[in-house]
Formats: sequence, structure tokens, C-alpha cells
Amino acid sequence: MHASTQNEHIPVLVDAVLQYLDPKEGDSYLDLTAGYGGHAERILERTRQPSKATLVDRDSNAITALRPLEEQGVQLVHSDFLSASQVLADKGQAFDIILADLGVSSPHLDNASRGFAFGLNGPLDMRMDQSAPLDAATVVNTYSSDDLERIIKLYGEEPRARTIAQAIVAARPLETTQQLAEIVRSVMPRGSKIHPATRTFQALRIAVNDELELLRASLPIWAELLNPGGRLGVISFHSLEDRMVKQAFKELAGNRYDAELHLLTKHPVTADEQELVFNPRARSAKLRAVVKK
Ligand SMILES: C[S@@+](CC[C@H](N)C(=O)[O-])C[C@H]1O[C@@H](n2cnc3c(N)ncnc32)[C@H](O)[C@@H]1O
Repeated sequence: MHASTQNEHIPVLVDAVLQYLDPKEGDSYLDLTAGYGGHAERILERTRQPSKATLVDRDSNAITALRPLEEQGVQLVHSDFLSASQVLADKGQAFDIILADLGVSSPHLDNASRGFAFGLNGPLDMRMDQSAPLDAATVVNTYSSDDLERIIKLYGEEPRARTIAQAIVAARPLETTQQLAEIVRSVMPRGSKIHPATRTFQALRIAVNDELELLRASLPIWAELLNPGGRLGVISFHSLEDRMVKQAFKELAGNRYDAELHLLTKHPVTADEQELVFNPRARSAKLRAVVKK
């Protein structure tokens, strides 16, 4: 497999993913956020069964990078993971290994034209799926101050959401990531450890891509898509996602005798110092995993 050699995305928590999902020769495998195939490469090395692998991503650049795998029999699906999961469940398909490595990839953050990064100047885009109708410019330039405040508070956990929302509305129209970052910076107190626009950009990205709703609706379907004995791992990158995964796993893998799943990770698994040296973006990654009884 060659998909990961041509990109800069370094997969996170690879050893833990291999430990908890424990891919074995012949296993079927569903990757719901295949990205540039870093995890897929390592998992396929073990399953040795490309024709039993389905790789999903909503970003057409990621799907293009994964194309060489099709020749080996891997099925590629360009779709959001909720729609893809619903289709697979309707077909009655089930898998031995399911992985969801949530959020954005390094090419999203490093490419100014995708509009995700407050440190680069690009259009206010932030769509993971470049064909989706809603972009960040629409949210920033057309939503009411109340709606912007709600989004920034809820998805960014930003205490100054109201001030930021009002400043955005007063400065409209905004066209670039740098304009937005500057407006946010201008109303924030100095001396914060993180860039003052970090939480606002996270919030807008979550809203533009409807990230939390898709995750909430997908988690029970992923449990349904597991074969008996099958393992599901979810890697999250912020507390809102992790809380949702933790809660869903608790409900599905509770202490009840009829619980569908069994928890493999009592606590979330995080990156060790060694991994952080070569991949600082692993800092906030948390893996939780379950097995179907
Ligand atoms: C962290 S990257 C995955 C990287 C991948 N595991 C690797 O090793 O290369 C997350 C990927 O998930 C995709 N993604 C995020 N949310 C998605 C969703 N709801 N449906 C489908 N793909 C999604 C993004 O486009 C991105 O390519």
C-alpha cells in the first residue's frame, strides 16, 4: 500500500490501535475516517485481506490519495460516516475491526486554501467535504449574533462567546481566516497560553461539518456493524467528542447482563512523550475501544 507515503499526515496512537483492535489475518475492516491511510496501512499489513476492507472519508482529496488501494480490492466510499454506516447496516454488513479517527487531517490544517487554520491566510471555508453546501463564510457572515454566540459557546467552550459573536457581526463581511483571527484576537485578553482564536475556530469547524451530531447518531450504528468478537476504536481530539464516545460506550457496554459490548479501555489511551516528540498533533488524541460480545 502506498497511500501514506505521499502525504504528511502522521497517524496517531498506532501502537494502541493495533493493541486494542488486534487485527488478525483474514479480519474484515471498516475505517470510517480513512484520511491518508496511515492507520489503514498498518491494519491491512495484519489482516492481509484488502478485499474485506472498506475505507470511508468525506474529503475527496483523501479519497483520491487512497485510490491506489482499489487495485488491491479495497472498497472506497466518499461519504460522511453516518450515511456510509447507515448504508452498510441496511445491507446487513458487519466487520471484525472498526476504526474512527475523528476530526481533521494534517493536510486540512496545513493547506491555507481549506480555511481551517487561524495561523494561515485562506478563505473562510472549513468544509471537510468540498462539495457540502455550508461553509464557514456563510456561518460567519449570515448567522445572527445569538446563533454565533451559541455555536462558539457550545462547540468551542469559549467563555467570551458573546463578545466574540458581537465583534464578528460588527466587522462583517469577513472573507479570510486572518481577518477572523484578528477580530477574535482584538477582543480577547492578552496572555492566554493558546492562540486567542483557537476555540472560535474549533467551534466554527464543528458547526460547518456538523461533527457532533454525526458522531452522536453514528455511535450506536457502529456497535451494530460489529461482528461478534469484533472491536471498535474511536480516537477523539477534544472533550466534547470524548464525552460523547465515553457516554455511548457506557450505555452500550454497561454492567447489564444483556449489554452488547464490553469495554476494552477503562480509561482513554493517550500518546506517550515519545510519540509527542515526532507528532505533536497527537497531544489531545484519546482512544477508547470496545469489543462486541
Ligand atoms: C484524523 S484524520 C484520519 C487520518 C487517518 N486515520 C490516517 O491515518 O491517515 C480524519 C479524517 O476523517 C475525515 N472525516 C472527519 N469527519 C468525517 C465524517 N463525519 N465522515 C467521514 N469522514 C470524516 C476527514 O476528512 C479526515 O480525512
